[in-house]
This record gives sequence, structure tokens and C-alpha cells, in this order.
Amino acid sequence: MRAIVLHHYGPPDALRYEELADPQPRAGEVRIRIHAATVNRVLDVSLRAGRETARGPILPLVPGVDCAGVIDAVGEGVSKWRTSSRVAAAGVMPLEVCPEDGNGYAGPTGMMGIKRPGGFAELVCVPACVLVALPDGLDFHHAAVVMRHVPTAWNLLFNVAELKANETVLIMGASGNLGSIGIQIAKNVIGATVIAAAGSDERAQIGRALGADYAVNYNSHDLTAEVMRLTAGRGVDVLYDNIANPKVLPKAFHALGFGGRLVTAGAHGGPNVTIDFSHLYHKQITIKGRPGYRPPDVPKCFAAAAAGKVKAQIERVLPLSRAAEAHRLVESGESKGKIVLDPTLG
Ligand SMILES: NC(=O)c1ccc[n+]([C@@H]2O[C@H](COP(=O)([O-])OP(=O)(O)OC[C@H]3O[C@@H](n4cnc5c(N)ncnc54)[C@H](OP(=O)(O)O)[C@@H]3O)[C@@H](O)[C@H]2O)c1
Repeated sequence: MRAIVLHHYGPPDALRYEELADPQPRAGEVRIRIHAATVNRVLDVSLRAGRETARGPILPLVPGVDCAGVIDAVGEGVSKWRTSSRVAAAGVMPLEVCPEDGNGYAGPTGMMGIKRPGGFAELVCVPACVLVALPDGLDFHHAAVVMRHVPTAWNLLFNVAELKANETVLIMGASGNLGSIGIQIAKNVIGATVIAAAGSDERAQIGRALGADYAVNYNSHDLTAEVMRLTAGRGVDVLYDNIANPKVLPKAFHALGFGGRLVTAGAHGGPNVTIDFSHLYHKQITIKGRPGYRPPDVPKCFAAAAAGKVKAQIERVLPLSRAAEAHRLVESGESKGKIVLDPTLG
């Protein structure tokens, strides 16, 4: 098979497009013929540059922390999955041989694309226990992005913030991956009032186009004053951040009203941010950091995507062989949606 291999940390050209032996599924695993894998700022770009060594990547590495495709081989002991099933897989999974349902597995775990071969390849083997069946009507490119971002956004808004339909949420980085998905979950699934905020008029308007009730450019407006105006002085119930921009987050924090909840799964714009503790205790605010997701939510996320309630924002689909270009695009900060690699395109 053809795959991207990272032998040494470095610039995007450190990603080599190489011929490797086809992987063979072990007991309890399936092999996926990949049609889509997403390119991510931290888990791909920062990792390739050598800034994520604390995660313990094992080089040489086939990167790619998710994939969507078709099962083309099943290992011994796999009875629930068949070849030609459309599936997605991502994230943390068993590293050693594991039963098909994962029950009783007590061995080491780690992310595909970091601790075990990832999705930047024509083929990948993963434990059957992490597979998610794709609904009809959802293409592979969108499915990979849904797998990557929707369960995390869903967890933050439903389980961590416990956002309700009669509440208001302020979504930062409205045009970004978690931001754009968060707006759609908050509006189309939960039914809350949504204020989309971003660093330019164009990016804020993307949030409005995704269904937000209001849009604010936090680089040209005083975010606290704007949110107070939009909420008649009450402030928002939930602040969904995931950026930790030191210039902007303090302003957003002051827009949280009484009993407000700040939820986050990211800090690439920080990580250090000044927080006004008097506002925190006077308003009885809770701050919760929570990456990851609950596996039982994943089918709900795919159902919401198949129903058109949550649409992944894809900027470009590139052949796998152009992974270095994909990294450069993500690094430039210019892309307004996800970059997806498709190994079936070359
Ligand atoms: N599965 C997941 O999605 C997942 C899971 C766990 C954690 N995370 C983390 O969540 C965070 C957000 O992920 P994402 O994919 O949504 O990010 P993203 O789309 O790449 O970026 C979100 C927004 O951050 C702002 N931004 C970008 N670079 C910045 C910088 N250097 N300084 C300040 N602001 C900057 C931009 O908004 P404006 O310019 O409009 O402000 C951008 O739209 C990341 O830290 C990621 O590691 C993601």
C-alpha cells in the first residue's frame, strides 16, 4: 500500500509518500480501505513539527488520527463486521490484541496516528471495538470530519455545559472546526440561542450562516459590551471556547452571566489567559476542561449529520500524496474549513 510516513520531525516535507507492506488484521481487528482522513492543527501539524513529543509518538509513524472507509478484511474472531461495510474510526484504542467487543481488555491504549499506524494510508488495521457504522447518505469525507469533531463538541455542549434550549451560548472561533460544529449542535440539535464570535467579519458571518442568531467580530468590537447588549445585560449561560486567546477570552469571560459555565477542550491560542476571579465567584461561574467524548454519543452525532442538522465544513479534499501541501494549508491559518486527504485519489 501507499502511505505517508514520518521518519523524523521537521517541516511539511518531512512527510514522505512511500510504499509499505499491506497491514494484516490481527485477531479482533478489521482492515479498512481508507477514503478519507482529516488533517489537524495539533495532532498532525504540531506533531509532525515535533511539538507533541509529550504524547509519545512512535517514529517512524504513519500519522492520521482518524479515518473513514470500507472494511476490506476481518481478523480472526470478528463476527459483527463484514467486508464492504462503511465505517469510521478515530482516537484512543487498544494497542494490543483485543476481543471484538473490547470487553475485558486491560492492555495499553493509545491514539491511531500516534501510538499505532494512522489514517494517512491506503489501508489501516484497527480493533473492531472502536468501529462506528456510517449511515447511508453520509459521504466518507464528511464522515471523517464528523468523527473527528462532532462527538467532542457534542460532549462539551450536552454533557459538560448541559446547555438547554432556553439558554444562550457564546461560541468562540465560529468558523473553526469545533466552533462551526458547536454552533450547529447548539442551534439545530439543542435549540439554544447562539452568539457566534470570531476574529474577522468574514469568519463571524460564517457563524451566522451556520445558523447562529447573532455574530460578533471580537477583533473590531468590545466582545463583553456586544454580548451584554445582545442579552439585555444578562450575559450568556455558556461560553464554549477551545482557543484560549489571551486577548479575547478575558472579554468573553466577562460576558458570562450568573451561574455561567465555561467549557473547553483546547488552548492552541494560549494556553495562559488572565481570568478575573471576582467575576468568577460573584457570578458563581464554573470552568470545565473536557477533551474527548462519550462513545455512546457517537451514533447520535452521525444521526444528526445524516439528518442534515450538523454539516462538516470542508475546505478542500486532496490526494494522500499531497499531505505536505495539506499541512502547509493548515499551518497557514488561511483555510476556513477542514482539509481532508483521500487516498483513493492518489
Ligand atoms: N476532536 C476535536 O475537535 C478536538 C478534541 C480535543 C481538543 N481539540 C482542540 O480544540 C482546539 C480547537 O480545535 P479546532 O480544530 O476547532 O481549531 P481550528 O479550527 O484550527 O481553530 C479554531 C479557531 O482558533 C482561532 N485561532 C487559530 N489560530 C490561533 C492562534 N494562533 N491564536 C489565537 N487564535 C487562533 C481561529 O479563530 P479566529 O481567528 O476567528 O479567532 C480559528 O478559527 C484545538 O486546540 C484542538 O487541539 C479538538
